[in-house]
Amino acid sequence: MEFFLSPLSRHLLVFALIGGLTLFTQAEPLPAPNTLAAQLGKAPQNLTVLEPHLLAADLPAKRTYQGYPASQLLDHVLGKAWRAPGNEVAFLALDGYVSRIPSEDIVRHEPLLAIAIRGQTDFTVDNPLQRQMGVPLGPYYLVWDNLRHPRLRERGGHIWPYQVAQVRVDTQRKESLLHPGLSEADRRTAKQVQEACLSCHQIQGYGGQKMPTDLTQLAQGLSEAEFVEKTLDPAARMPNSTMPPLLPKAKAQQRQALARQMHHYLRELARLRERG
Ligand code: HEC
Repeated sequence: MEFFLSPLSRHLLVFALIGGLTLFTQAEPLPAPNTLAAQLGKAPQNLTVLEPHLLAADLPAKRTYQGYPASQLLDHVLGKAWRAPGNEVAFLALDGYVSRIPSEDIVRHEPLLAIAIRGQTDFTVDNPLQRQMGVPLGPYYLVWDNLRHPRLRERGGHIWPYQVAQVRVDTQRKESLLHPGLSEADRRTAKQVQEACLSCHQIQGYGGQKMPTDLTQLAQGLSEAEFVEKTLDPAARMPNSTMPPLLPKAKAQQRQALARQMHHYLRELARLRERG
């Protein structure tokens, strides 16, 4: 739980300027789920979804979660500032996973911060892609109405952070992943790296804490072939890896091409940065 701020700094309003460009505000703890009904004056509501971690492994995926609309809970904890277009809300999990979600997506799709599964006493999910079974989801799990909005299914599990304990507003989100010298193609790849990798890895301080080595450094230390193999089949060279393979459902050719583009983008970003 290293990412929790020290008691002293938690009481100061901390603005960290990381990489000179990404502005973070203080992370706020979410209230204990069992006190929420009283605090919000509302009972939890139901949302039936196709659970993406099960869907990815072709398992029966329909289930109903119970929780509170994320926007209500965020208003309660952060005030309304998170709603400004261009902001991202960071959902910080107990294991260092950080999922950053554009505020526009939360306003538009009304995800739920779930605290239970209807009709079940456990609050867990199997995550076969990460070879982890019976993973605890609490205290909070962000779930989306991907039955009503099928396009959300294409975005996979990374917008479904579990074990969420804290939230934070991030502004100026993209600059640390970009450089004026990057080609258009590399800029598109930056977005894909952000979505697929930066819940766990980081670029210039932007990203998760699960494997916080800078991804540009990792890419510089690996040949294209090594990088592609580790990205497409993490378990092959890293036994017991909890890293999910990149786009496991896509065609082999498309996956290879994307992994190569990612390697190119990361090395290019590092090269441009070194030149200043
Ligand atoms: C859910 C968390 C998670 C995600 C998402 C993730 N990784 Fe990883 N990655 C890890 C962890 C943890 C390790 C350390 C080895 C292990 O346990 O698998 C790792 C290791 C690596 C390594 C090997 C580093 C070395 O020492 O050789 C590379 C390269 C890598 N990741 C690239 C990527 C890329 C590229 C993406 C996006 C396409 C990505 N990872 C997405 C968690 C993640």
